[in-house]
Amino acid sequence: MKKHVLIGISGGIAAYKSLTLIRSFVKNDYEVKVVATDHALEFVTPLTIETLSGNKLYNNMFQTGQERTTEHIALAQWADVFVVAPATANIIGKYAHGLADDALSTTLLAYKKILFMAPAMNDAMWDNEAVQANLKILQNRGVKILEPGSGFLACNSEGKGRMMEPEKIFEAIDNYLCGKNSGLRALVSAGGTQEPIDAVRYIGNRSSGLMGFCLAESLAQKGVQVDLISGPTSLTTHHPLIHRIDVQTAADMLQACQMVASQVDIIIMAAAVADYTPEHAVDYKVKKTDATWQIHLKPTEDILKTLSLHRANDRQIVVGFALETNDEKENAIKKLKTKQLDMIVLNSLNDKGAGFSTSTNKVLLIDKNEQVIDIPLQSKQAVAEEIVSQILKKINHHE
Ligand SMILES: Cc1cc2nc3c(=O)[nH]c(=O)nc-3n(C[C@H](O)[C@H](O)[C@H](O)COP(=O)(O)O)c2cc1C
Repeated sequence: MKKHVLIGISGGIAAYKSLTLIRSFVKNDYEVKVVATDHALEFVTPLTIETLSGNKLYNNMFQTGQERTTEHIALAQWADVFVVAPATANIIGKYAHGLADDALSTTLLAYKKILFMAPAMNDAMWDNEAVQANLKILQNRGVKILEPGSGFLACNSEGKGRMMEPEKIFEAIDNYLCGKNSGLRALVSAGGTQEPIDAVRYIGNRSSGLMGFCLAESLAQKGVQVDLISGPTSLTTHHPLIHRIDVQTAADMLQACQMVASQVDIIIMAAAVADYTPEHAVDYKVKKTDATWQIHLKPTEDILKTLSLHRANDRQIVVGFALETNDEKENAIKKLKTKQLDMIVLNSLNDKGAGFSTSTNKVLLIDKNEQVIDIPLQSKQAVAEEIVSQILKKINHHE
């Protein structure tokens, strides 16, 4: 049976590209229906949409003579997947706050399954704090945001906000729905660990976990089955190919990694694992006194090194992360060699927009032959996609 895709079009200049998106789905044997805002129809005509999709356009909720007067409910139930492309700042804001004042926003509220949104807007609008806050709300609710790219925008400026190309949108959704499985498996670690001092206190770090989650998502989008082993984080994941295991301490993380390491083709250690842990943690809350409190720390086991030096087979690819503040490249290469990695991703804390608590990153990818690929500043999702594509290239070429 054909899969049902509902395409929402809102009023951005990229609306013309949603016509290509309709074509991609139809060509690949999907049944396509479209719901568009009034403003979208300033950019593309109902005639084109109906001709390409082969179905009646839904736009006016209050038009009499329609098959059903509650078309928004029927459409929401009909769809197996819903994608809003382009998603304007306006529809993102309305959906984040539960508004329903036209056919698209009302259908969105009645819809309960997997939702993709492909934002497209001018770079200043994209950078706007309210827009970013709204996107976070949606991401936390499980909406799949298809990150816009950077480049030349319709307003003649250069920056982030270009809608993801329709072919890529189609590919992301099709892979998702088909649970396309490459047969490859990966282990990804993410987030920071927490080392208990007593019943309520711990030693932690500022890792958000975002880079590891983006890597897991990018691998899954390429059909790789992922075990994502994560330290405590508020991030969520919904991809059916991602199996998440939550851990707290460096020792828990090592144990969880060792459980799956022998079964995977790719190991990416993106977690910020504690290097030291308290020698003795107590299971009650230590009372405050006037005396100083000395905590003795002992080194934790190096998870990356342990997994790399005890690989299940020669084909396994092991990738580590290095966060350096001085002599960055030399230190990263030293790490790469001593831990016998296939690749190391170097973050420099000296680079603006790179590192721990940001949503962007800028890295150098160094492989075991010391070949260096410079990945410029962009979203962590885009950086993750580039890293994943380099890893898959290595696997496909048996390098
Ligand atoms: C020529 C033109 C291009 C526009 N492009 C965009 C865009 O790419 N993204 C966006 O968020 N808004 C864009 N807008 C503004 C939206 O059309 C406007 O915010 C509108 O209220 C969105 O309504 P809708 O979300 O209901 O379709 C554009 C407006 C014009 C006139």
